[in-house]
Amino acid sequence: MQISPSILNSDFANLQHELQRIADADWAHVDVMDAHFVPNLTLGLPVVEALAKVSPVPLDAHLMIEDPDRWAPDYAEAGCRSVTFHIEAAADPRAIARDLRAAGARAAMALKPATAFGPYEELLPHLDMVLVMTVEPGFGGQSFMADQLPKVRQVREAVRRHGGEIWVQVDGGVSASTIEQCAEAGADVFVAGSAVYGADDAAAAVSELRELASR
Ligand code: DX5
Ligand code: ZN
Repeated sequence: MQISPSILNSDFANLQHELQRIADADWAHVDVMDAHFVPNLTLGLPVVEALAKVSPVPLDAHLMIEDPDRWAPDYAEAGCRSVTFHIEAAADPRAIARDLRAAGARAAMALKPATAFGPYEELLPHLDMVLVMTVEPGFGGQSFMADQLPKVRQVREAVRRHGGEIWVQVDGGVSASTIEQCAEAGADVFVAGSAVYGADDAAAAVSELRELASR
């Protein structure tokens, strides 16, 4: 069970310090948004590159951008150890995954809440992780969509059939009150933004989440 706190709702004026607050987590989840794929704009390559140099934990980039075919490999080159592209924006997902792996990153595919997994199951051999969004991508602090749990289960079953080490990540509204359902449905990597950065003690929030997920 791995915890990947999202820095989206952290203090953007003090990112290095904010990363230090989650030094006990497994990953730091970095939400890249381009104001086209989602109606919000966050940060891009130059900032990610700078964060990769100072982060105490590996970066888990979540690209909510158009044209991941063009941009995703650059995030791997910038030092992200895991890079997630949205299938809805991808022209050639196999090529993106191949390029990510060639650049030394884990390759992951994300599904928006309205996107079914079935048509993309055949991509599993090319992937290291599948991200099931449990909110509409774009903003932190939204309510968890429990109606996405059947998709988490479906992905977990497909991964089990397929074999190999493919992780199942959930992102959006994951907190102490929703993480157990996610784990029970088969998720093993948990993104949590406000639940970690909204807490006074971020490290304690991370260990509480990890403990709840492992029950
Ligand atoms: C939403 C982002 C999430 C978000 C999670 O578009 O992908 O990573 O920051 O934040 P919480 O945990 O507050 O829903
Ligand atoms: Zn995210």
